[in-house]
Amino acid sequence: MSLDVAILGGAGLVGQVFIKLLETHPMFRVKVVTGFKSAGKVYGEHVEWKIWGDMPGYVRDMEIVSTEYRYLKDVDLIFSALPSEEARRIEPYLASRGMKVISNASAHRLDPNVPLIVPEVNSSHLDAVIEGYKDGFIVTNPNCSTIILSLFLKPIYDEYGLEEVHVVTMQAVSGAGYPGNPGIDIIGNILPFIPREEEKLENETLKIFGEYMDGVFSKANFNIKAQSNRVPVIYGHTESVLLKTSTYVEDLQGLKEILSDFHGPPQEMNLYMAPEKPIHVVDGPRPQPRFDAFREGGMAITVGRTRIYDDGWISAVIHGNNLVRGAAGGTILIAEYLCKALG
Ligand SMILES: NC(=O)c1ccc[n+]([C@@H]2O[C@H](COP(=O)([O-])OP(=O)(O)OC[C@H]3O[C@@H](n4cnc5c(N)ncnc54)[C@H](OP(=O)(O)O)[C@@H]3O)[C@@H](O)[C@H]2O)c1
Repeated sequence: MSLDVAILGGAGLVGQVFIKLLETHPMFRVKVVTGFKSAGKVYGEHVEWKIWGDMPGYVRDMEIVSTEYRYLKDVDLIFSALPSEEARRIEPYLASRGMKVISNASAHRLDPNVPLIVPEVNSSHLDAVIEGYKDGFIVTNPNCSTIILSLFLKPIYDEYGLEEVHVVTMQAVSGAGYPGNPGIDIIGNILPFIPREEEKLENETLKIFGEYMDGVFSKANFNIKAQSNRVPVIYGHTESVLLKTSTYVEDLQGLKEILSDFHGPPQEMNLYMAPEKPIHVVDGPRPQPRFDAFREGGMAITVGRTRIYDDGWISAVIHGNNLVRGAAGGTILIAEYLCKALG
């Protein structure tokens, strides 16, 4: 099966990662790339390639078009890497015209009828669109830091329950898109604030761990507090997590095994983008962005510094690739799951 897809915002950083990851994808073929300032230009002549590797040959001669229904109506699926304000306006319109939109933008993540999906964690929430799949829909990929955190929390939540989660993020500059933070602000520096990031981590995590039943998404009932920093790293978000489980955890080795053995529907379904092991547990002074950002092509997260305190609190440092697992790769994985589920 091969489906024609469009990438909205294909000249941006996340758009470029889509183009890279879809170069050899067995199910999805990029037919349309949209842009704003770049609309009307030839991709290979206009776009400055800002991510790893070379610009794939297949996209070089493609003309970037504006994000209008007439250019999109013939594709089977839309991957959106639009800025949030554009997504707020454009994505519901496309869905209302019967298009299937899977989005990286934050605009609709908390909408009451829109699933917010990490396929290993809450793919059952996709029932919300599978039930009415003949119509258009929006499905969303969470915020990049939220995806990394949710993958780490899932096996702990299932085994021990969760009461309280505190997370401090150290997020790469590529998380702000291109050109992102001016060099003078971020080189040799740390910015202790990323607009709206902390609320996203808190609210999105609770939606992901909540239930979907009878058309309603309910929130999970553990507490979560987040603090976000921008750090001078190119790829990969690191997060320091401190958490309290509902049942007491004593066995550190057992905890590490539960994390390391974790897998979900994408692994069981053998999906193309699914990492063999979503979580890699490491020892020593790791994870580090330089060494761990591209684990399993950027689709797996790395967990290290795992400790259990005498009072039962657990801490760990976790790391994941914001552009792959946290954006384009995670979105493609959702699409693969949906395609398999819809037959
Ligand atoms: N960077 C990350 O790690 C990350 C992770 C998760 C989610 N996200 C989300 O993914 C989205 C894209 O992020 P990014 O990092 O790729 O940002 P970016 O590098 O700033 O790229 C945004 C792109 O959107 C395009 N655009 C603006 N208005 C448009 C329109 N009306 N139609 C089509 N394209 C339009 C721009 O195209 P022109 O160049 O043609 O003007 C630009 O290339 C954002 O919503 C972001 O929050 C990003």
